[in-house]
Amino acid sequence: MKQLSIVILAAGLGSRMKSALPKPLHKIGGKPMLEHVLESARKLNPDRLVVVYGHRGEELKAAFTHHEDITWAKQETFEGTGDAMKYALPYTLKDSTVLVLYGDTPLIDANTLEELVKNAEKTRLNWLISTVENPTGYGRIIRDHNHHMVAIIEEKDANEMEKQIHEINTGIFAVCQNFLSEALPQIDNLNQQEEYYLTDIAKLAVANDITIHTFNEVPALIQGVNDRIQLATLERYYQKEMAKQLMLNGVTIDNPDSLTIRGKVQNDLDCHIEANVILEGNIVLGKNVTIRTGSVLKDVVIDDNTTIHPYSVVEKAVIGKNADIGPFARIRENTKLGDNTRIGNFVETKNSTFADGAKASHLSYLGDATIGVESNIGAGVITCNYDGANKFKTVIGDHAFIGSNSSLIAPVTIGNHAATAAGSIVPKDVKDNTLVRNRLEAIHVENWVTPKKEK
Ligand code: UD1
Ligand code: CA
Repeated sequence: MKQLSIVILAAGLGSRMKSALPKPLHKIGGKPMLEHVLESARKLNPDRLVVVYGHRGEELKAAFTHHEDITWAKQETFEGTGDAMKYALPYTLKDSTVLVLYGDTPLIDANTLEELVKNAEKTRLNWLISTVENPTGYGRIIRDHNHHMVAIIEEKDANEMEKQIHEINTGIFAVCQNFLSEALPQIDNLNQQEEYYLTDIAKLAVANDITIHTFNEVPALIQGVNDRIQLATLERYYQKEMAKQLMLNGVTIDNPDSLTIRGKVQNDLDCHIEANVILEGNIVLGKNVTIRTGSVLKDVVIDDNTTIHPYSVVEKAVIGKNADIGPFARIRENTKLGDNTRIGNFVETKNSTFADGAKASHLSYLGDATIGVESNIGAGVITCNYDGANKFKTVIGDHAFIGSNSSLIAPVTIGNHAATAAGSIVPKDVKDNTLVRNRLEAIHVENWVTPKKEK
């Protein structure tokens, strides 16, 4: 087996994106395009992994510090893909097979690349091509009368006949390093764009009696992203594939076209996802979990038979069995909700634990709180956990009843079976089995007449 050098070209201007962000940092499924390419590349265990960077390069490099083994090659001039390759060549391994990938072709499949590389070890040059319905923007594959590939013509250099060709260059090919290093200096920039086209390797191969082998890939996986329309097209394709996987795994998805996944979803039997749901990070769903419309979940573990009702936002939380969350709930980081808990509309939790059967059904803020078994938090209850500088804890025992509009001034502990009357301000601890009530008594003014506007 020959050694393998993978070169990813990612230095282009990406001007068609009209963006301040380097193109390879634009995301598909919540992950930068270059990250997708790197993931596929890694599956081939390359001996050398080179990324050509340049345009806003430091920003790009900074986003990939977690890939420690990348050899970064800085393109100093921006004169096309052939020029980019010149900067990478010194880092490729002598006598290796060089696999060329593009930072803007994120959905490329590792199995295809493996085949391409395997064949290139014998044939010296193996080109990944595709037949597409709309070839606009792609380089076209030119074949001779024996149907051998002999050249690639870029869209801007193509005549009307060549533009009719639907067989296109994916940009990806595998080549022996020796030939690549001989051919690169021979590429000129005598074309419409006055760029050095790496694709000219093809006609140089023919001139050197090297037969170009071609390998076909389905159009969906080789699409390049040059503008935001193509970005959206690929995003939707990717999302449909993610939804397909979930459905094959037993999840009912009401509208697969509306689901967005930016991470990993694990599921048990009979989960149900309604329309317009966004799932991010690591999501783990038990049996029979329902996520209703408009909900956004990030890094959440949900146990069996729990429902997240419409328009709830749940982040970094663990939720037990038979829980009922939302509609319009906001569950923030480090929330743990036990079995049979209920969080209703306009309730915000953060850094809080609800024991089994605890409930907060309406309009509350519960931060840095521990709430005991079967305790009930009334409407409008607030944990006053912050003095402008420090956070303080509220501890509520089991079977407690916190009346509507109570303000719990932390640090404060409320005992088991204790209660606060509606409207109470609770500045100090409440013992077990004790009711606290400190609201003002009502004053009744009799024979009251509602004021009327004078004419
Ligand atoms: C290129 C191919 C075209 C192919 C298409 C597939 C050439 C000349 N054309 O066209 O045949 O059908 O991809 O998607 O190769 N890059 C650099 N430095 C540069 C220029 C580009 O690193 O100076 C990188 C870009 O970051 C990008 C890749 O090379 O990742 C392709 O460049 P791009 O300008 O998008 O080429 P296309 O016009 O799409
Ligand atoms: Ca491109």
